[in-house]
Amino acid sequence: MTAKFITLEGMDGAGKSTHIPTIIRSFKARGLEVVSTREPGGTALGERLRELLLHETMHPETETLLMFAARREHIANVIAPALARGAYVLSDRFTDATYAYQCGAKGVLASKIELLEQWVHGDLQPDLTLLFDVPVEVSLQRLSTARAPDKFERESADFFTRIRNAYLQRASENPTRFRVIDANRPLDEVYKSVEDIIATL
Ligand code: TYD
Repeated sequence: MTAKFITLEGMDGAGKSTHIPTIIRSFKARGLEVVSTREPGGTALGERLRELLLHETMHPETETLLMFAARREHIANVIAPALARGAYVLSDRFTDATYAYQCGAKGVLASKIELLEQWVHGDLQPDLTLLFDVPVEVSLQRLSTARAPDKFERESADFFTRIRNAYLQRASENPTRFRVIDANRPLDEVYKSVEDIIATL
């Protein structure tokens, strides 16, 4: 069984999504099945929740609960079945994002997120998490030239600093699962780092 659960994380503007098509091609070239998905979202209901989460103002705990509601659906309908048949799963964000955004940046207690995490996927954790890391100024600069921002992308530099710090802290607490990628480099260099990691799977 080759099944592996891989997640991509980073601040908005860190560039993680850019690498998804190339990662998929690299798996497919090796004859491996890969299911590419994202959070919030990944299912029909999850995508409807995503619309609400990205555009409606709500209490940070409501946001946390909806993230986990979408996640429950995502695991039941997409992630668990794919892993069960031996496919690789590549998810653009997962629970580390809830720790970084809702806890790190918005102050929801980590203990509450831990409860939900235990409830929703206690025995299922990513095997590998690629954290695309860039300085906050770089992320903000990239976002300023990108498409119309969603509610998270309109936040302040201070908000982004808290996200970055929370991600880096999670990476240092889980060193075997995380690989931190310096994404403040030309795209081909960043991709080379990604490819080197993917090739070991
Ligand atoms: P993102 O993954 O950046 O997608 P896009 O590249 O289309 O903008 O957008 C998802 C947003 O949702 C991002 O700002 C982070 C936020 N988010 C949370 O706040 N908590 C979570 O648990 C997850 C999964 C995402």
